[in-house]
Amino acid sequence: MPASNESLRSEFNRWAEDGRGEGMELDHLPITLPVLDLMQLQPTDNVLDAGCGAGWLSRLLAEQVSEGRVVGMDISDEMIRRARKNYVDLAHIMFVVGGVDEIPWEGNFFDKAISVESSYYWPDPARGLREIFRVLREGGSAWILINYYRDNPHCHQWARHYQIPTHLLLAEEWAQLFRDAGFTDVAHRRIVDPTPAPETYTGLWFADAAQLRAFRAEGALLIHGTKR
Ligand SMILES: C[S@@+](CC[C@H](N)C(=O)[O-])C[C@H]1O[C@@H](n2cnc3c(N)ncnc32)[C@H](O)[C@@H]1O
Repeated sequence: MPASNESLRSEFNRWAEDGRGEGMELDHLPITLPVLDLMQLQPTDNVLDAGCGAGWLSRLLAEQVSEGRVVGMDISDEMIRRARKNYVDLAHIMFVVGGVDEIPWEGNFFDKAISVESSYYWPDPARGLREIFRVLREGGSAWILINYYRDNPHCHQWARHYQIPTHLLLAEEWAQLFRDAGFTDVAHRRIVDPTPAPETYTGLWFADAAQLRAFRAEGALLIHGTKR
């Protein structure tokens, strides 16, 4: 395994051990639900959840694709161990350890691929997108949702807190990576988080409640494209 993947794995294993895998559902659910609507999931769809963390989104997807299959994949074996423990009850979910640079799955299998708050950590996003393109079948689509992107000035300070390298790209740069990977009908849009901001903010990621409000008003970035 390349050294960059090894350091991702140990960093996110630490996150998993601190319970942050499960905790992310609270922050990411409000921006993910509108994406699930846009994806127009069909009951027979096979879906890849790339960088699935502790598995909450794979579980939601599995409820919608009752006759298909959901594969949650993550570079962190500890996230995957927890995902398996959290969601043993649905037969058509499977969790696998793997990196997007070499997705451990056959080509032309998935109808949809989604990745939430993961792609800016990928050591080589261009390669990850090419791999997602490979595992999608013709007519399949990829949906990438991120909160950390250059067009939103209210997240740039996060760089100070990351222990691993990240990519702070413009929306249009992500769209170009999609096109370079072979996707067509590439588009991007903002997904605004409707959660009311608290009166005061004392956390690590924002200067104050006003900045958190401004960040949420900008919205998350969704990029999507189709394999034709
Ligand atoms: C911020 S968490 C988000 C997890 C989940 N999608 C969620 O919304 O709760 C980012 C996840 O991406 C995974 N990840 C990072 N780089 C990856 C890569 N190259 N391949 C697969 N997973 C990766 C991490 O291990 C981590 O679980």
